[in-house]
Formats: sequence, structure tokens, C-alpha cells
Amino acid sequence: MPKKLLFVCLGNICRSPAAENIMNRLVERESLNGEIICDSAGTSGYHSGDPPDSRMAAAACQQGISLRGSARQFTAADFETFDLILAMDQDNYRDILRLDRERKFRHKVHLICEFCTRHSEREVPDPYYGGDAGFRHVIELLTDACEGLLRSVRGSDSQR
Ligand code: 4NP
Repeated sequence: MPKKLLFVCLGNICRSPAAENIMNRLVERESLNGEIICDSAGTSGYHSGDPPDSRMAAAACQQGISLRGSARQFTAADFETFDLILAMDQDNYRDILRLDRERKFRHKVHLICEFCTRHSEREVPDPYYGGDAGFRHVIELLTDACEGLLRSVRGSDSQR
């Protein structure tokens, strides 16, 4: 069975599509296509149907990553579909768990920065109202987090 990962931010146009596409690139590089499936969503529906933010896409492009997909809102059904749900910040984490009414899925939800090994930040900062440096930092932080996440997912597979 493939491992299904869902990356979640507020709008699903900046951080979580960046995380999804960075992870997809690592998965392709390691020839794990079909074994790890990635998607992303926003806790809000403000941008549902929108493509990734052009500033986020430009920062990703500088690292050779193209951002694909369109925004959708996180729903309670995602708790069943996905094995791991990765929140970008504490607000996302809280908003996700608010939909876990029977408190059955808490173990699936993590802050993505838990997987960083080169950065000490606990959250991926929201770059939306800032400048280009903020978008570049998001890419750097998410690359660190996704590399750690991939090691963790592969490690838990080999323990079975
Ligand atoms: P994201 O960034 O949560 O990383 O997609 C944001 C996108 C839109 C807004 C805020 C953050 N907004 O306020 O519209």
C-alpha cells in the first residue's frame, strides 16, 4: 500500500503546494513513485480552485521545481484518506484537529518542522504578506523538512 501524505496550510496556494511539489521531486529522485503519494489542502476555502501563488512558484522555480495543482479545502474525509497530515504552523494544526470531532486521528497530524534537521524553527512562516526573501526561506525550510520526512517514512516502512 502506498503511503499517502497531505500537506496543509491556510490558503493552499503558497506553503502546502510548495511542500507537495518538493516532496514529489524527492520521491521521483529516489524512484519511489507510486509508493509515496502527495497532495495538499488549505484549512480555508478562500482560494479554492486557484493555482499556486506566482511569487511562491518563482521561488520554487529558482530551485528547479515547478508548482502544479489547484487549491482545495481540507475536509474531515482527509483524515481517513491520508496516513500523515503535515501542518505548516500551529494555527493550521489547531484548525485541522478541530475537524477531528471524535479525536480518532490526532496521531496522523504533525507540524512539518518536526522533521527538520538543519533548521530550528517550529513553524513554516506564512510568506503571503512579505517579500521575496520570505518565499525563498519557505523553500529552504520545506526542503529540509521534506528530506527528514522522507527518511522517516522510509524508516517506518523498513521496520515492518
Ligand atoms: P498559504 O499562504 O497558507 O501558505 O497558502 C496564504 C495564502 C493566502 C492568504 C494567507 C496565506 N490569504 O490571506 O489570502
